[in-house]
Amino acid sequence: MKIAVAGTGYVGLSVALLLSQHHEVHALDIVPEKVKMLNNGVSPIVDKEITEFLDKNQSGERPLRFHATADPAEAYTNCEYAVIATPTNYDEQKNYFDTSSVEAAIAAVREHSPAAWIVIKSTIPVGYTAQLREKLQDARILFSPEFLREGHALYDNLHPSRIVAGAPQDDPEAVSAAKTFVDLLAQGAAPDELDRKNVDGSIGIPELVVGTTEAEAIKLFANTYLALRVAYFNELDTYAESRGLNTQEIINGVCLDPRIGEGYNNPSFGYGGYCLPKDTKQLLANYSSVPQNLIEAIVDANYTRKDFIASEILEKVRNVEHPTVGIYRLTMKAGSDNFRQSAIQDVLKAIKAEGIATVIYEPTLDKPEFHGSSVTHDLEQFKRDSDIIVANRWGEELSDAADKVFTRDLFRRD
Ligand SMILES: NC(=O)c1ccc[n+]([C@@H]2O[C@H](COP(=O)([O-])OP(=O)(O)OC[C@H]3O[C@@H](n4cnc5c(N)ncnc54)[C@H](O)[C@@H]3O)[C@@H](O)[C@H]2O)c1
Repeated sequence: MKIAVAGTGYVGLSVALLLSQHHEVHALDIVPEKVKMLNNGVSPIVDKEITEFLDKNQSGERPLRFHATADPAEAYTNCEYAVIATPTNYDEQKNYFDTSSVEAAIAAVREHSPAAWIVIKSTIPVGYTAQLREKLQDARILFSPEFLREGHALYDNLHPSRIVAGAPQDDPEAVSAAKTFVDLLAQGAAPDELDRKNVDGSIGIPELVVGTTEAEAIKLFANTYLALRVAYFNELDTYAESRGLNTQEIINGVCLDPRIGEGYNNPSFGYGGYCLPKDTKQLLANYSSVPQNLIEAIVDANYTRKDFIASEILEKVRNVEHPTVGIYRLTMKAGSDNFRQSAIQDVLKAIKAEGIATVIYEPTLDKPEFHGSSVTHDLEQFKRDSDIIVANRWGEELSDAADKVFTRDLFRRD
C-alpha cells in the first residue's frame, strides 16, 4: 500500500517508520533540512528506536520502505492513506487550536489524491473532523488520536496501550477504512504485543473504532487526566512544603493503594511540554456552555504551582546580596530533547521579573542567551556562579553541588 505522512515530527516520523516495515511510505515535510537528514538516515529528534530503525535501514540490516520528501506530488499522488501529523498550537487569542497546518496539508493531499483516506493524527478540538467533513464536503476524512510520549515516540507505537480511530458510525465505508487503518498500525507493532494480556483480561492490542468526535474527546480527556494527576501531586507537595511535612512519605502512602497507583506522581514545577498545557486549555474551551469545575481548575492549578515554586526560590535567596539563580536545563522532563512549554520557563520569567540575575545551563541550546538570561555549556562554572541551582529534574552531574540545588524531583525519575 502507498501511504503518505504529512509532518515528520515526533508523531509523523514514528508512524511513518512503523508503517514502512510493511508498506511504501512517503513522509513529507515543509522543512527541507529535515527531509535531507531523514534520507541520509539521520533522525532530527532524539529517540532511541527511531535512530535504530534509520540506522538499520541505512545499513541494509532491516530495510524499510521509507522515503522523505518535500514534494507533495511525489508524496500524495496515488496514496491510499494520507496521515496528517502537523502541529496544532493553542491560539490564546481565539481560545482554540490553530488548525491551519492540518487544513493546508489536507488541501495539498486533495490536490494530488482526490480519493485517498485522510487520517488526522494531529490533536484537534472535539467536533473538528465532523465540521471539516461538512465544510469541505469530503467524506473521506478520519481521525486517529496519538498517545505517544516524546523520547519514546516509536517505542510507544511499537507497544501501543490501545489503537483508536474515529469514523462516522453511520458510514460503513468510513468505518471500514478506519478499521483498516487500525489494522495497519497493529501490523507494525512489536510481534509480542499480539499475545499480551491486558488488565481487563483481553489478549492483544485493544482496538477501538468509534465516532470521530468521541475519538477526539478520548485524546483530550486522556491528556487532561494526566495533567490532573500531575497537578494533584504537585498540589499535594505545595501543601506539604507549606506545612513542613514530608511529601515523599505522603505520596508513598497514598500511591500504595492499587486504585491510585504509581505514575505521574513525582512532583515537578508544573506540567509542561508540547501537549498537556495546550490540550487542557483546548478541552476547557470545548466545554464553553457545559458546566464544569475540574477542567478549569486543572488549567489554573498549573499557574498556581509555578507561582508557588517561584516564591519558594525567591524566599531562599532573600537574604543573599545580589544573588544569581542558576537554571539547570530548560527541558520539560529528564531525557527530553526540546523545551516547548516547559514549566521552568515560567518559573524563570517570574524570577527575572523580580530583577534577579539568572544563568542557564542548557547544553542543547546553541545561543549565548535565552530571553535575556545568559546561557552556558560550562557546568562547573555554572555551579560556581549560582547561589541556588533550580532543577525541575535532578541530574546526577549535580551531586557535588547538591547543597545548592532546589528541586521537587523527589523520586528522581521522569
Ligand atoms: N509530541 C507529542 O508528544 C504528541 C503526542 C500526541 C499528539 N501530538 C500531536 O500531534 C501533532 C504533531 O505533533 P509533533 O510533536 O509531531 O509536532 P512537531 O512540531 O514535532 O512536528 C510537526 C512537523 O510538521 C511539519 N509541518 C508543518 N506544516 C506542515 C505541512 N503543511 N505539511 C507537512 N509538514 C508540515 C513541521 O515542519 C514539523 O516537522 C500535534 O497536533 C500534537 O499536538 C503530539
